Amino acid sequence: MSRILITGCAGFIGSNLAEKLIEGGYYVVGVDCFTDYYSSKLKQFNLNRLLANSHFQLIRLDISEASFNQLTDIVRQVEYVVHEAAQPGVRKSWGTDFKDYVRHNIIATQKLVEAVSKAESVKRFIFASSSSVYGNVGNVRLREDALSKLA
Ligand SMILES: NC(=O)c1ccc[n+]([C@@H]2O[C@H](COP(=O)([O-])OP(=O)(O)OC[C@H]3O[C@@H](n4cnc5c(N)ncnc54)[C@H](O)[C@@H]3O)[C@@H](O)[C@H]2O)c1
Repeated sequence: MSRILITGCAGFIGSNLAEKLIEGGYYVVGVDCFTDYYSSKLKQFNLNRLLANSHFQLIRLDISEASFNQLTDIVRQVEYVVHEAAQPGVRKSWGTDFKDYVRHNIIATQKLVEAVSKAESVKRFIFASSSSVYGNVGNVRLREDALSKLA
């Protein structure tokens, strides 16, 4: 059975993706630190079904504060990594909240990528971008191959 790491597994995308991948025959290792960006009760709710599944393991860990050894121990167990852990919300990402974005988006990603680069088991690293790269396109349904308004 292929093993896949999903960071941000208690979040909106991570939890739904974890359920789909388990249905598709994967074993999912999920990492999350339950940031207070929105209610942790909602994150717990997102995880309820997953925690009852024997093909899911939750590791509570703040990636931005994890040691290199902690992260390499985790990524060496998996073949695929989907990185969904983040501080989302481009509008709040300036001013006093900027430090949270640096911590959860830049430092956490850099630490994870360094660990993955040393883990020979990992075949693919999939990173979630932001829908904000498409710019302000109103209510138009976005497609992955749409051109970025920032280009
Ligand atoms: N939701 C959308 O419509 C959408 C669209 C495009 C892109 N994205 C991107 O996809 C990613 C996930 O979005 P989402 O909507 O699921 O967000 P979310 O806030 O629901 O989930 C993110 C999860 O990451 C966890 N997390 C944050 N920092 C962490 C850290 N340092 N260590 C461990 N866990 C950490 C949080 O606790 C949270 O559970 C983000 O990068 C977001 O910008 C989301």
